[in-house]
Amino acid sequence: MNTVILHSCVDANLLQRTYEASWESSEWTFEFPRNSSYDKRHPKITLIEHGQVISKDENLISLIKEIHSQIYDSYECFDREILFAGISMKDITFKENVHTDHNGGCKLLGLLNPIWKKEWGGSFIHDEMVYDMQPGNFVLFDSTVEHAADKILCEEKRVAIDFHQEKLGEARLDFYK
Ligand SMILES: [Fe+2]
Repeated sequence: MNTVILHSCVDANLLQRTYEASWESSEWTFEFPRNSSYDKRHPKITLIEHGQVISKDENLISLIKEIHSQIYDSYECFDREILFAGISMKDITFKENVHTDHNGGCKLLGLLNPIWKKEWGGSFIHDEMVYDMQPGNFVLFDSTVEHAADKILCEEKRVAIDFHQEKLGEARLDFYK
């Protein structure tokens, strides 16, 4: 599967409201990356897992479902059912963590920060290619291939949302290349 950048597919106001709701959340945990030492973990909220809503934050769930739906409406190249959704927070203390996750399907990753400058770092690295993370854009990728967030070079916290879902045919993905 080719990695695709889905451009400006989510309303900036929706991302902003989700960013703010994530800061209000009491559901941040330090479980990730699983099997890593405590000092290498970063805060994450697990919202949906194995297709089941985990979070009790109804406002945040409705916001992230709307984000997924807006991406789908622009780019119908993945399945509508969300198998996993989470929000992660990384900052300058975060050590680059090359990993793979999930079996099959595809992953969507995008920033919730209303502003994120290229020089702030935190790009997305996938299969040795580097993708700049610009607010409003989402990266669609195969998460069984090694990927990582690059080092963050500023004092800002990088708040990103990721979704896992089944993929649809390669032909649809090729259309958006
Ligand atoms: Fe990952």
